[in-house]
Amino acid sequence: MFSSAFTVIGHRGARGHAPENTLLAIDTGIALGAPWVEFDVQRHPSGALLVFHDLTLDRTTNGHGFLADQPLAALRALDAGGGQLIPTLQEVLDLVDQRVGVNIELKSAGGTAEAVAAVIRSYVEAGWPVEKFLVSSFHLPELWEFKQLAPEIPVGALLCGVPLDWAGCALELGAATLNLSSEFVDPRLIADAHAHGIKVYVYTVNDPAEMRLLRQMGVDGVFTDYPDRALAI
Ligand code: G3P
Ligand code: MG
Repeated sequence: MFSSAFTVIGHRGARGHAPENTLLAIDTGIALGAPWVEFDVQRHPSGALLVFHDLTLDRTTNGHGFLADQPLAALRALDAGGGQLIPTLQEVLDLVDQRVGVNIELKSAGGTAEAVAAVIRSYVEAGWPVEKFLVSSFHLPELWEFKQLAPEIPVGALLCGVPLDWAGCALELGAATLNLSSEFVDPRLIADAHAHGIKVYVYTVNDPAEMRLLRQMGVDGVFTDYPDRALAI
């Protein structure tokens, strides 16, 4: 009934156990046994690639206002939870050190694809296998640009809806995966992705019963704040 492989992806590291998108959250996801960790990346006006989800600082740090409005030094002095700092993409990759796969979600557009492609290229040159990376985005034109710059790196099309042409956007992008919101799981979308050799991962799934149901539907993996729960089923 179940497909043989079911991929568990720690969401924002393991945000059910540690402050999201911090080095501690990434390390916790790995320690819990997640074979992949997902985290969000934004390009700050300084050019730095910061691992951070929101446009504003208020929900997850002791700062206020828009991230893009603050100087880099001020951002790096903030508390992102439990004394953790807002990390850079490079700091996360150095921490991971090839132990697990990394799903880098491009949150910003306009130069983010190019900057992330350059960083990934340097880690691949330093010995990281390309299969350890999955670059995704809801901003499909930015992801398209990334794919043109780094065609060897797998990409995942993020969707929060069901398109008219089903998995067509993922096919057009040459994507390895379709990363779909749990609100919009549709058997026809899964079937169309699979018919084109594209895997389907669903976010964000924290209920073990839902994980089992998705697996029965043929979904290939889940993003979860609790990798321990997914690994237990
Ligand atoms: O990549 C899956 C998931 O992280 C997408 O939504 O808002 O949690 O970044 P969000
Ligand atoms: Mg994300």
